[in-house]
Amino acid sequence: MKRTALRFITTTGAIALAIGLAGCASGGSAGSGDGGSAAPAEDLTVGVAMPTETSERWINDGDAVKSQLEEAGYEVDLQFANDDIPTQQQQIEQMVTKGADILIVASIDGTALASQLEAAAAKGIPVIAYDRLINGTENVDFYVTFDNYEVGVQQATSLLQGLGYLDAEGNETDLSDKKIIELFAGSPDDNNTGFFFDGAMDTLKPFIDDGRLTVGSGQTSMDQVATLRWDGATAQKRMEDLLTSTYGGGSKPLHGVLSPYDGISRGIITALQNAGYGDSIEDGLPVVSGQDAEIASVKLINDGVQFATIFKDTRKLATEAVKAAEAYAEGGEPEANDTETYDNGEKVVPSYLLESDIVVKDNITSLLVDSDYWTADEVASGVAE
Ligand code: BGC
Repeated sequence: MKRTALRFITTTGAIALAIGLAGCASGGSAGSGDGGSAAPAEDLTVGVAMPTETSERWINDGDAVKSQLEEAGYEVDLQFANDDIPTQQQQIEQMVTKGADILIVASIDGTALASQLEAAAAKGIPVIAYDRLINGTENVDFYVTFDNYEVGVQQATSLLQGLGYLDAEGNETDLSDKKIIELFAGSPDDNNTGFFFDGAMDTLKPFIDDGRLTVGSGQTSMDQVATLRWDGATAQKRMEDLLTSTYGGGSKPLHGVLSPYDGISRGIITALQNAGYGDSIEDGLPVVSGQDAEIASVKLINDGVQFATIFKDTRKLATEAVKAAEAYAEGGEPEANDTETYDNGEKVVPSYLLESDIVVKDNITSLLVDSDYWTADEVASGVAE
């Protein structure tokens, strides 16, 4: 992905934005002043807290948010937290202490930031939850994300397409063969995990209910299928354990695996290949879904190894986060397109939801290359340039 491709649309030139954040739910003004004081964009700092650099998507998100904010004239304090909750808590505390005016936060554990956000609210700093909802606090003002339930629907749809029960348009075929699958979900402390899993399970349910699909291990509950911190090695280990306990170490049929994220998909695929299911889908490797269009997985899809992923354009999400920050900087409110779905236990957080797409081998070029998300060379090599 070219850095320049990340320099997407910014909403305004952001010259001399008025800062009067009395409208934000935390009920105060920007950190640098009392309600109604004015500051140009270049005097405003936006603290951006991202969960980890171990997954490419968060690096891309961080880069995209930073470059778009800088282009609009803001100072940016971007931090990654190594998927470590105390590190993220400390980073946000420091952003507040150092005088951030607005916060954009992609949380690690959506329930672990209440006291940091209370400190932010006390200083009147608006908080925008990025991609993952922050739970159990009044002090989150806006949420930018994708339609997470729909992402889960798309993951299961792609699995059903790979298994042959749905065609490329998503219509049911006349296939009535019985097939065996396994299920994986994401990190249990990430609010998105339940949305993805519910969307996927609602989509798979008719096929499970009428016996076309069977979950071989019988493991279908969230506590059985979740993958702490979305860790690929953890998923690989669980897949290896399942192969030992249920599939004779790889000698019994397994046709598909629902996977919620490309890093997990690659762990699952490695376990399946090591157990002798074949190197590619053509050779008998089970169909595996994914999420994020990470370049290593896009290459695997192109090579016929992973079946699908879900493309969530991080540049567009960054643009929505920047728009929300600018709305607060101008003393207004960001525009929501969903005011019902995302209840964080304290309030329904007004949200802006984006759409995502299923990527399979046939549409890599139209969805990912033509949009400059990845180049054709990157797809071929599996490495971001
Ligand atoms: C994001 C996914 C991502 C996952 C693991 C989720 O919160 O919505 O896009 O795959 O975290 O990083």
